Order: sequence, then C-alpha cells, then structure tokens
Amino acid sequence: MYINFWYPIIRSEDLGPDKPERAKVLGVNLVAFRDQEGNARVLSDTCVHRGGSLGGAWELGSNPRIVNGCVVCPYHGWEFGGDGVCKNIPSIGYGKKPPARAKIDSYPVQEKYGIVFAFLGDLPEAERPTLLEIEEYEDPAWRANTVLVLEVDYYYERSIENGLDPAHNEFVHPTHGYQAINRETYSVRDFDVTDYAQGWGMWFLHKFDAPPLKGETWKDAKAEGGELYAGSGTHGPNTMITEINIGKGQKFRQYFFEQPVDEGKTNIFFVNMRNFMTDPKMDGPIHARNKIIAQQDIEVLNDVWPPRTPTSNTKEVLMPADKAVVAYREWLSRFDEKGWRIDWDEFTRRNGKETAFAIPSPARRESGNWVVEPMPLLKSRAARKSALSDIEDISAA
Ligand code: FES
Ligand SMILES: [Fe+2]
Repeated sequence: MYINFWYPIIRSEDLGPDKPERAKVLGVNLVAFRDQEGNARVLSDTCVHRGGSLGGAWELGSNPRIVNGCVVCPYHGWEFGGDGVCKNIPSIGYGKKPPARAKIDSYPVQEKYGIVFAFLGDLPEAERPTLLEIEEYEDPAWRANTVLVLEVDYYYERSIENGLDPAHNEFVHPTHGYQAINRETYSVRDFDVTDYAQGWGMWFLHKFDAPPLKGETWKDAKAEGGELYAGSGTHGPNTMITEINIGKGQKFRQYFFEQPVDEGKTNIFFVNMRNFMTDPKMDGPIHARNKIIAQQDIEVLNDVWPPRTPTSNTKEVLMPADKAVVAYREWLSRFDEKGWRIDWDEFTRRNGKETAFAIPSPARRESGNWVVEPMPLLKSRAARKSALSDIEDISAA
C-alpha cells in the first residue's frame, strides 16, 4: 500500500450534511463530513485530545455532530475545521484559542463521478499524481451507471492484478469465456504492454475468443461474437481501467477505484460507462450483469494465498500471459523507489497497541508539532523489485 495517491473515501450520496462518516483506508481511520458550503472534507479520525473517534458512532445526547462547518468530537466536544485545526475546546470555554498542537491531518479532496476522493499523502500540489480523468464522463454519447461499491475480502493488489489477467476468462467467467477449451488450438494471444496515456501506469489491448451475448437484454448490443477486444490498464497503484469493445464501435469503459481497507479487505468503487444501450432503463440489467461477473472473480480471489503478492519471483512461476501483471508490478517498484510504500509489517506490529498512526498530510511539510505519528514507510531500497525479465523463458519448452 502506498501514500501519495488519490483514494475513494465514500460515495457522494452516502455523505449527508449533518453526520460525519468514518472510513478505514490504508489501515487507518478517516472521517469525512460536509462543511457549511457543502464541500466534502476528509480528516484523520483520531482526536488529538484523548483519542476519540471523530466519525465514531454517537447515539447519546442531542448535540449536533457538525457545527459551523466543524466536525465535533463525540467525547468532549472539541471542534475541528475542514483544515484540521481545532477551533473550540469546550472545557476551556468556547471562543478561547486552542493550543497550536490541537490540529489533525486534513487531506485534499476532489468530489467527482459520484465519489469523494482524498489525496492521502503529504506531497505539495504541484508534485501530486493526478486523479484519473474519465474523459467521456460528461459526453452525452456515454452513460454512467451509479457507483457500485464491491466489498471484497482480499488485498487490493490481488484485485487489480486479476483485472490485468487475460488468461483467467476461460476458467472463471462462464459469462464471457469459452468454458469448453479447444485443447488443439487454445493459447492466450501475445500482446504488447505500453504506458497508460495519463502517465501513472500501464495499458494493454488483447483479443480473445468469446461466445456471443445471449438473451433479450442484449439484442441491441450487436455483439459480433467469436472475438472480443479488451484493454486494461492502471493509474497509480489502486485504479484500474477496462475497455471492452463488443463490436461496431460499441464499448464499455469500466473504472475501478480501489480503496484498500487493510491487508485483507478492499472496497472497490466501480464506475461503468457505455456508449450503447444508453437508455436509463438498461442501468439495472447492466448492474446485475456486472455484479454476476464480479462475483465470479470474488469466489476465486477469496482463496488466493498468500494475501499479498510475493516480493520475489522465485515464489511464483510467471508466464507470458502474466506480462501485464508484471508491468503493473514494475510501476509499483517505481512508487517504491519514491519511498511511498507503507511499511505494513512495522505498522501492524505497533498499530493499535499504544500507538495511533495517521497518513501524513501536506500541512506536515509546513509546520511541526504533530501529535499523531506518521505512517511508517519503507526506504526505497527495501522495497520489491519487479521486471519483465521475471517471466519464464518458454522458447525452449
Ligand atoms: S477525545 Fe476528542 S474531545 Fe476529548
Ligand atoms: Fe475476471
């Protein structure tokens, strides 16, 4: 897991005006709420007074949880603005200036595609990786389904790698892979991997054999059947893109913004775009089909072991069809080199004992005196190395 990227926090529709919501991302709790202008704000959830949870459940009393654009700690009522600075400490009297250390991390926010995203890291604006741009989002020729959140019990990198894997369709997906493989002719076609146009990941396009879509729902889809072009790519460690060309210019573009909760849990915020069957009446059937396909992947990925991908290629036997997976890992290695990888073993060793951790925010580069410890990060040299040369040489086989 990495700091310094944009992560989905909560769906816009799930963040109301009166109540803060808690989300666990990269192993730590965050709180999201709306300020007086209705803008979403995201802060570290740990109150620096005595560890209250700003987004925690609080059914007692009738005091409001958001006052003058501040989130109110349910324990002793300290009020924190969207900038993370404490504005009021009731025990010393409202309106009296809190000490300078009474501040918590506040993260840059963008609300797009029906999702509240936060930049979880401390880079100044000019140096930040971008949030993925869905170029066709406002294009009237395209239609977006409402955001679907898939909650899965596995590590986010396993999930991303599954999306970059052209060899699993025939085995996992009766919906769009030929289940009865022709042993005489079958193999995964060769493909090239390039950089993704938005600069923070990889991309590949691949042709595979697929049965024609069946049923009344798909009668307008004009799927030619037999062959399907699909492309997949990445943007940062946690965003995956899939483009499915079903023929005659008809496309799905699918965006998976993944929220790593911890090592064993991921929430996938899924935006599905299409440029055919754009009647809103088709949203339901398309949702239903996507859920069925996702469930096929989930069943297999639930059992993959170990939870995290190994850091050495001696622990796996990688084939040419794993080329896109390795290209993704090469990008992760670049993020390792920047020193953005969380030292998860050190984090889990100390987290939740007498230490609370926070993802460092940009303000930490401008001022000192932060109460909550920053996430431990791996020095770049300690991180994983991956290279396309990890793939087995099958030329002699
Ligand atoms: S712990 Fe938050 S106000 Fe005391
Ligand atoms: Fe799949």
